[in-house]
Order: sequence, then C-alpha cells, then structure tokens
Amino acid sequence: MFIPTVLALALAAIPSAFAQDFSAAHNVTPISGTWSSGSKKVITGSGFANPANMTFTYPPVTGVSYAFTDDGYYEVARYRFNSNGSSPNCITGVLNWHHGQYTFNPNGSITLSPFGDGYQQIQDPCAAESNFIEGYNDTELYRSWQIFTDPVDGPKLHLFQADGTPVAPLFQVYSTANMLPTQLLRNVTPTITDQTGARFVESNGARHWTPEGVTSIVSGAFLVSLASLLL
Ligand SMILES: *[C@@H]1O[C@H](CO)[C@@H](O)[C@H](O)[C@H]1NC(C)=O
Ligand SMILES: *[C@@H]1O[C@H](CO)[C@@H](O)[C@H](O)[C@H]1NC(C)=O
Ligand SMILES: *[C@@H]1O[C@H](CO)[C@@H](O)[C@H](O)[C@H]1NC(C)=O
Ligand SMILES: *[C@@H]1O[C@H](CO)[C@@H](O)[C@H](O)[C@H]1NC(C)=O
Repeated sequence: MFIPTVLALALAAIPSAFAQDFSAAHNVTPISGTWSSGSKKVITGSGFANPANMTFTYPPVTGVSYAFTDDGYYEVARYRFNSNGSSPNCITGVLNWHHGQYTFNPNGSITLSPFGDGYQQIQDPCAAESNFIEGYNDTELYRSWQIFTDPVDGPKLHLFQADGTPVAPLFQVYSTANMLPTQLLRNVTPTITDQTGARFVESNGARHWTPEGVTSIVSGAFLVSLASLLL
C-alpha cells in the first residue's frame, strides 16, 4: 500500500514531525506510566521531592523522570549538571520538581501546566549565591513525542522540547504513574521561609533557570567528585 508506506517513512525520517495520530501507528504504548532516563535512578514521587519543605532526596546519579496518569496528571523530576564552556570549572547543579495537568494539543504537542507548587535548587559554586531554592511554575511545551520499543529495555519515550531539542530517551520503569498526590502540596503564597540554610527565592527572583538553559550533562566520574564538592 502506497499511502501507509509514505506515512511510515515520513514518521521515521522526521521523528519530531507534528504527528496527529496517537494510535498504534504513532506509539506502541500509551504515555501513561513512569519514565526515567539513562540508569533509571531518578524517579518521580516521594523518593525524589518533599514539596512541603522544599527539599530533595539526592539521587546517586543525574537523570530525568516523567510520570503521566491516564486522566491527565503529570509529574517531572530532574537532576542535572550544566557545564559552562567559558568557565569549565563552574558546573551548575539543578534539581527540579513540578507536577500538574497535561494536555495533548491538536498539533501533536503536549503542554504541561503546573499547579504552582513546583520548585528547584540551584548549586553554582562560582556564583555569589552558590546554593538557593526557588519556586518553579513554568508551563512546558513539548513539540512532539513518540514511543518505540527498545529490544532490551522495552517501551522508550522520546520527548522533544519546544525548540526541538530532544529530552534524553526515557524508559518505562512502571506502567503506572509513580507520583505524589495530584494537588497543591505546599503553600504558594509569597511567604519566604528558610528551613534548610539555603535561600528561598520566588520564581520572579533575580535568577531563574529554565529547562532549556540546562541541557548539557557532563560525564560520570567528574560528577561524583563535583557532587562531593557541592554537598
Ligand atoms: C523534609 O520532609 C521530609 C519528608 O517529610 C523529611 O524526611 C525531611 O527530614 C524534611 N527535611 C527538612 C530539612 O525538614
Ligand atoms: C559562564 O561563565 C561566565 C563567566 O563566569 C558567566 O559570565 C556566564 O554568565 C556563564 N554562563 C552561563 C550560561 O552560566
Ligand atoms: C502547537 O499547539 C500548542 C498549543 O496550542 C501551541 O502552544 C504551539 O505553539 C503549537 N506549535 C506549533 C508549532 O504550531
Ligand atoms: C503558576 O502559573 C499559572 C499560569 O501562569 C498562574 O495562573 C498561577 O497563579 C501561578 N502560580 C504561582 C504560585 O505563581
């Protein structure tokens, strides 16, 4: 059949195409479940974030995790390091957590709309403010997504950010969403509290880090030594 072949070729050649088809031709499984990159050590849920006191449980290695329910809720957990080409010794660590509701848009993109209780911790040894925590309430748009079957690891989710940058491939660690309760989990009035020694900055504070700003991940051994410096 001519038309299905052309469609299949087009999807294979342009994985970030704005596919409108969420059926089996587009994805081998639904997006619902818990997904994690790389060594699958960063996982959404209570093992990563404690929103009530804005703390994190540090995973042993960096990674990102996404969880989706089949009734429209999502949660994101990220632990990343960002290297700075002009100052190679200034590696910034970012822990980020947020949750809310997602929508599939007609053009094949996904919008993540946070509840408003998200937060992130930035560690920048070279900055005047070397360790601080701030609210995170950015709506995130993912241009497209696709789920393949990896011969070894099973379902594999590819998400493309608004600018087309791919998120690291995500493996399905659970077929259900491992997530904290889908409601506001801390008071998000502009009260500034300090329970950990780190400074808390509201999301409109002087420094704000977007997911697009933290894309490069430096390699393992260096990270371990760096992490011990930062902690
Ligand atoms: C934050 O809350 C978690 C979960 O209740 C708790 O285990 C942890 O000790 C708390 N940390 C601080 C600094 O209060
Ligand atoms: C990289 O480091 C330089 C020098 O410290 C600084 O001016 C610049 O803002 C940094 N860039 C990023 C993206 O952090
Ligand atoms: C796709 O739809 C979303 C939601 O309506 C919109 O924000 C985004 O700009 C659209 N993307 C393109 C490339 O049209
Ligand atoms: C989070 O963003 C949404 C949408 O922009 C806004 O309606 C809401 O008030 C924000 N919440 C907080 C706590 O800033």
